[in-house]
Amino acid sequence: ALRNKFVAGNWKMHLSVAEGVALVTELRALLDGVAGVRVAVAPAFTAIHPVADALRGSLVEIGGQNVHWEKQGAFTGEVSPEMLVEAGATCAIVGHSERRQLFGETDEGVRKRARAALDAGLTPIVCVGETLAERDAGRTLEVVGAQVRAGLEGFDANDLAKLAIAYEPVWAIGTGRTATSAQAQEVHAAIRAILRELVGDAADCVPIQYGGSVKPENAAELMAQPDVDGALVGGASLSAASFAAIVRAAR
Ligand code: G3H
Repeated sequence: ALRNKFVAGNWKMHLSVAEGVALVTELRALLDGVAGVRVAVAPAFTAIHPVADALRGSLVEIGGQNVHWEKQGAFTGEVSPEMLVEAGATCAIVGHSERRQLFGETDEGVRKRARAALDAGLTPIVCVGETLAERDAGRTLEVVGAQVRAGLEGFDANDLAKLAIAYEPVWAIGTGRTATSAQAQEVHAAIRAILRELVGDAADCVPIQYGGSVKPENAAELMAQPDVDGALVGGASLSAASFAAIVRAAR
């Protein structure tokens, strides 16, 4: 395969420190012996350090749910890439649709966050996706394409080799309504074509995750699509058993 699968769990604003530590303790046992797939969980900032401690020596990596572009300074409420690295993170979600919709994040901010994450050695997981109104208006590829181009503006082949993209149709997030594997593949292939335009063959190395109501029941079929290289899992990552089943479906 050109690229390993990459499955990440986004815990969003769920789980206490104790619950998160218990979850990953169970998860690492369930994933014992699994290889050839990249796995990460993204706890709340307050739980990153203890969860990282509980995962030491396991396959499972830690991510931030967001990251700021400055190293430090007067940016109340933000966390820098260096702080995430210090706490044990190896990746960071940027531009999640909840950040864009509820907290006003822009494509330009997404690009700056991704750039800073890369510079600190983190893998940015750059999220893109259309709303239901945009899909119904036939604008999916236009909207997602614009997000990809703006979010990755100025990035070269070296940058893309260390980055992941997550395609998350907003209408499929937390709704129980999953994109069909054909709908996902269509958008993933369009994203891949844009990456190829930007950086040539290096596009083949970029993992493109699908996100939006991924569950153990639909994960294998989604990830069997040629351009679906993993999953960004919300609700189903809050149980070690279901998240482990999704990871196992990725191989
Ligand atoms: O980041 C994860 C996504 O927003 C998907 O969430 O699996 O609960 O639909 P969900």
